Amino acid sequence: MSSQDIPEENLPAGQSTDDAAEHGSVAVKDEPFADPGLPPHEHRIQDIDERAARRSERVVAMLFTVSMLATIAFIASYVAIDVDKSIYVFPIGHINALNFALGLTLGVALFCIGAGAVHWARTLMSDVEVASERHPIEAEPEVKAKVLADFADGARESQFGRRKLIRNTLFGALALVPLSGVVLLRDLGPLPETKLRHTAWKKGKKLVNMNTNEPLRASDIAVGSLTFAKPEGVEEHDEDFQQVMGKAALMLVRIQPQNIKDKQELEWSHEGVVAYSKICTHVGCPISLYEQQTHHVLCPCHQSTFDLSDGARVIFGPAGHALPQLHIGVDDEGFLVAQSDFAEPVGPAFWERG
Ligand code: FES
Repeated sequence: MSSQDIPEENLPAGQSTDDAAEHGSVAVKDEPFADPGLPPHEHRIQDIDERAARRSERVVAMLFTVSMLATIAFIASYVAIDVDKSIYVFPIGHINALNFALGLTLGVALFCIGAGAVHWARTLMSDVEVASERHPIEAEPEVKAKVLADFADGARESQFGRRKLIRNTLFGALALVPLSGVVLLRDLGPLPETKLRHTAWKKGKKLVNMNTNEPLRASDIAVGSLTFAKPEGVEEHDEDFQQVMGKAALMLVRIQPQNIKDKQELEWSHEGVVAYSKICTHVGCPISLYEQQTHHVLCPCHQSTFDLSDGARVIFGPAGHALPQLHIGVDDEGFLVAQSDFAEPVGPAFWERG
């Protein structure tokens, strides 16, 4: 198939098969579409008009000259401007005069070099389009053989194979050197040990209202409301209050027991009061929005939604796990208390680490 066989519709607008041959179109056998080749070359005004070329030359020279002047101004600013002097520049306001002058002059100097080079390339340098053939990037077999031979020569001349003592101690040194970096990891702080697996909740701890600081009874939790609680003995002025509450924050809602679908949830509740971790299992935002008709809670960060009437399973959003439930009951005085710590780690990614 020759370029003469290229269908007219596969050629650039207004180009005939003769033009295609002239401009290098190549119709490859069995290819459904022929290579349209390069469009006809269009000369720039500078290629055909010497006066335009001179104008471009003057513009480029002017840009390079401005760059030189800006560099001289940079040096002069550095020498002449007091380091404490400030000036008012609209709309930035008052700024250090020396920094402003240095930044401005250096910026102008660099910009003019770049702009001059671009204008030079676009208007005066040759714009002949060149097609470059692609070649396989794999080296010729002789080159590969030569490289392997050079490598073998190098290994032999270094006596790497013969001097086993040197070779083995080198391997040992290279293997041990990364340990220095591992030791430095110790500076990142003490290991969390089992702290991530436990919270401040434990059997018998009273649930205390976060707002009133009073221990809660089941009767304090109204149907349709969302109540936040903390463990008894955790006070806001404690030094580690935020760290403790980062794991122990609790939310309580009251649901008609017949509306609780999950069997374990019902067993771990008290008179319809259910207690769940307030920490979203996506990336750990505190959950705060409750929809009382559906018993859904919504995390404001990325809209993960949990159904508190069904084991707090995820019904929407990126969270990967249900919220952990705290098993609660009442003590002899009728106050709500925890029956144990959470049965699983609270919060986000720690889940993935098992
Ligand atoms: S942190 Fe709750 S949805 Fe992302």
